[in-house]
Amino acid sequence: MNNELFEKNVVLLAIAILVTVSIGGLVQLVPLYTMEQTIEKVDGIRPYTPLEQAGRNIYVREGCYLCHSQMIRPFRDEVERYGHYSLAAESMYDHPFQWGSKRTGPDLARVGGKYSSDWHVAHMIDPRSVVPESIMPGYPFLAEKDLDFSDVALHLDALRTVGVPYTDEQIQKSTADLKKQQSTNDPDEAEGLLKRYPKAVIGNFDGNPERLTEMDALVAYLQMLGTLVDFSKVNLETMER
Ligand code: HEC
Repeated sequence: MNNELFEKNVVLLAIAILVTVSIGGLVQLVPLYTMEQTIEKVDGIRPYTPLEQAGRNIYVREGCYLCHSQMIRPFRDEVERYGHYSLAAESMYDHPFQWGSKRTGPDLARVGGKYSSDWHVAHMIDPRSVVPESIMPGYPFLAEKDLDFSDVALHLDALRTVGVPYTDEQIQKSTADLKKQQSTNDPDEAEGLLKRYPKAVIGNFDGNPERLTEMDALVAYLQMLGTLVDFSKVNLETMER
């Protein structure tokens, strides 16, 4: 087409710009409204257990994302250091997501299972007791504070309204599930919980089963990060675009 036509007629130019920009905008926006289809289904992804969700709330409250990202990018150095790159599905139930944009400390997207819970507790109380050169601040008060879980059912219900598929059963049993996750080491006793939330890590995270502290919740959350997907079973060929 002859450019002169547009260059000499400013109204036509404005309309043409509008049309071009709208097409670009639509291409970017429309897929976001059909998120369901945009995020590939990946086996193993489930909503957080009530205790993990409570721990996640503490993670958000304390601003851990200011120093830690939770997104492994598909670059060789990152994959070699942290493990398989993050999949969109892995943060599909995150409200708000904790990808972060700064790494003063390492990425935590796959920290689950990397250390024992005892290590995490010692590290959270005093990072320098296990990593002498660490500059991470200590959070010893988490071990002293009882976890307030009075509103956990409401919290899961609120998450359901923004798209996390918690069932009625999961919401009804949320308080019991939350307590159960830290009060037993016996998979038989936690059968219902493990059925509702496969792969949940059970146990007395801070070593004191009598008391349910904020530390228990935070460590339960850290211990599940990045553990839900079995990458030996994910077909990477079909994952790539
Ligand atoms: C001022 C920055 C800063 C803040 C805030 C911070 N961290 Fe860290 N974190 C670090 C640094 C630096 C390291 C690496 C040294 C170490 O292991 O202590 C680290 C290490 C870690 C590790 C071990 C990771 C690994 O793979 O070895 C975990 C887990 C962790 N932090 C959790 C947290 C949590 C949970 C919070 C919030 C309650 C938090 N951090 C807040 C800086 C920070």
